[in-house]
Amino acid sequence: MILMEELIDITIRQITQSDDRDMLRQLAEISMKGNEYDLADEVHWKNTLSHFEQEFAEFDGENNVFFIAEQAKKIIGFARGSRRKDKPEQWWLNGLEVLEDYRGRGIGTQLGQAIIDELSKPKISCLWAHIAKNNIASLKVAQKLGLRIITDVGETIMGEI
Ligand SMILES: CC(C)(COP(=O)(O)OP(=O)(O)OC[C@H]1O[C@@H](n2cnc3c(N)ncnc32)[C@H](O)[C@@H]1OP(=O)(O)O)[C@@H](O)C(=O)NCCC(=O)NCCS
Repeated sequence: MILMEELIDITIRQITQSDDRDMLRQLAEISMKGNEYDLADEVHWKNTLSHFEQEFAEFDGENNVFFIAEQAKKIIGFARGSRRKDKPEQWWLNGLEVLEDYRGRGIGTQLGQAIIDELSKPKISCLWAHIAKNNIASLKVAQKLGLRIITDVGETIMGEI
């Protein structure tokens, strides 16, 4: 666990096209850890990295938003949202991860809030999210961000912020 005094100088910012490949590797690593994959698992590693490479190539700020939390050059979390071109009013929070050692310190909530603030600029109507009911941390973040539950079926809830 990281101590509170070590949480200084954490920046939440949107990714830019000038970010380098090392950033993608760090994002893939956080995602692998979040999914509890072994970093030595080459198949998952390649798939995860290429997934981020593709997202980065398609990133335009128009149909997707992508925020990272970083301390110096180390990325400690990310959040991304996107919308389908055929349903432009419906944004989805489709990725929120914080490195385990840094969790429980408000970083996940700040990342989610950064997405909401960014999307509020052109005044979106809502941000949607699917959340597994057993993911307490994620539910708490959603609650703090103001999630309103729309459907509650089986293991997952769907909500609107
Ligand atoms: C979900 C996640 C991004 C939250 O990030 P975070 O930086 O810890 O978020 P925050 O600190 O802003 O808030 C987490 C809240 O959940 C609480 N929490 C965390 N684990 C918990 C648990 N097992 N039981 C109860 N509460 C828990 C924290 O105490 C905190 O609440 P508080 O502010 O009232 O104290 C992080 O846990 C994560 O990366 N999880 C793995 C990936 C994942 O599940 N992503 C979401 C997919 S929808």
